[in-house]
Amino acid sequence: MKEIDSEISGFYKLSIENRQKMLIDLFNLTQEEIRLLENFGYFTTSQIDSLIENVVGSYQLPLGLAFNFKINDKDYIIPMVIEEPSVVAAASNAARIARKHGGFHSDEIKPIMISQIQITKLEDIEVAKKSLQKSKEEILKIANEQDPTLNKLGGGAIDFEMREIDTQRGKMLIIHLIINVLDAMGANIANTMAESISPYIEELSGGKVYLRIISNLAIHRIAKCKAIFDKELLGGEKVVEGILNAYEFALADPFRATTHNKGIMNGIVALTLATGNDTRAIEAGAHSYAALKGQYSPLTKFQVDSDGNLIAEIEIPLALGIIGGMTKIHPMARLALKILNIKSANELSKVAAALGLAQNVAALRALASEGIQEGHMALHSRNIAKLAGVPENLIEKVANKLVEDKKIRLDYAKEILKRIHNNENL
Ligand code: MEV
Repeated sequence: MKEIDSEISGFYKLSIENRQKMLIDLFNLTQEEIRLLENFGYFTTSQIDSLIENVVGSYQLPLGLAFNFKINDKDYIIPMVIEEPSVVAAASNAARIARKHGGFHSDEIKPIMISQIQITKLEDIEVAKKSLQKSKEEILKIANEQDPTLNKLGGGAIDFEMREIDTQRGKMLIIHLIINVLDAMGANIANTMAESISPYIEELSGGKVYLRIISNLAIHRIAKCKAIFDKELLGGEKVVEGILNAYEFALADPFRATTHNKGIMNGIVALTLATGNDTRAIEAGAHSYAALKGQYSPLTKFQVDSDGNLIAEIEIPLALGIIGGMTKIHPMARLALKILNIKSANELSKVAAALGLAQNVAALRALASEGIQEGHMALHSRNIAKLAGVPENLIEKVANKLVEDKKIRLDYAKEILKRIHNNENL
């Protein structure tokens, strides 16, 4: 392939068709590749073109459903968008086990977000603080003028806090505007409010404002969820012991805690994506919260009850919305929200917390017993067989052989296919 010059300007001004044409020439695309680009799925051309810049196509992922979830005595079917095999089945399994002792119990969540305003170059921080404090009502009033509807519905800016930080460029005063965002994720309104009050904040403080942006560390929007997992259904006392040991491992070791939390996020991110929410915001908030006490730690905790059943709990910031952003624009996100049958962003966060907890228990149960690979094998072996060029009618046979011999590899799949063609006995 020829060298590419990536300095391309004005690409965004072209129509999608012309962008695709340019791509076809640039990379000498095959008919099959062109067909992939031309398929926007359920998006219209204008819908997909208005979502991001420089759009050339649409990228699909599977949408699966997790079952058996009972959360605060209500049943849910949970849509999940994820590419990893076994995750959806694992969540459903853990949720089924949790049902025996009443399912999941999630606390109420407050949809409160923080928007940060960074004030620099202050001559006297104490004087600036006093002056800002004196005009608090006026500052909140300006912020709330940005979204009268939010106000009418009972949300809006409710308070602000001031934090002094020491930096290598001197002391800074950081304002935290505290906002009740109700059913939104909240980034838009938090950013708009912060920008709207900044000129007044500069005037009052005599400093220079730079950043005005939401904090994705949503410490006021914490989801807490709990469930009891039956000892026998988990696989007996040894498995419960294994889970407790896995938990201690994660508590003591950030290398393990990272993977522990990755398992939790398998579920939460899949639901976040399915509902058109911002996966990066959720990830950033979760991992930051996990490290808040100084050491990166697990987001779940475990103990046993007097009968030896596993009591599992999760605590995680979850800034999820059901209005705004992509939630109402993306046709699949709308469908996902319909399947969820929820009435508020808080309810969505409760479901997400339960899903994260179920996902974690399922992963630890597998790790503490048969290991994680067994569950992955069936689907993975089929994919490997397909990649090896095995025809549809032989996929089952080849995939089974890969699993049986515990060699789920491309070269082995090709070898098996050859042996079938040579009429060898497998
Ligand atoms: C894999 O996607 C997730 C796990 O690694 C989580 C864990 O180790 O707890 C299985």
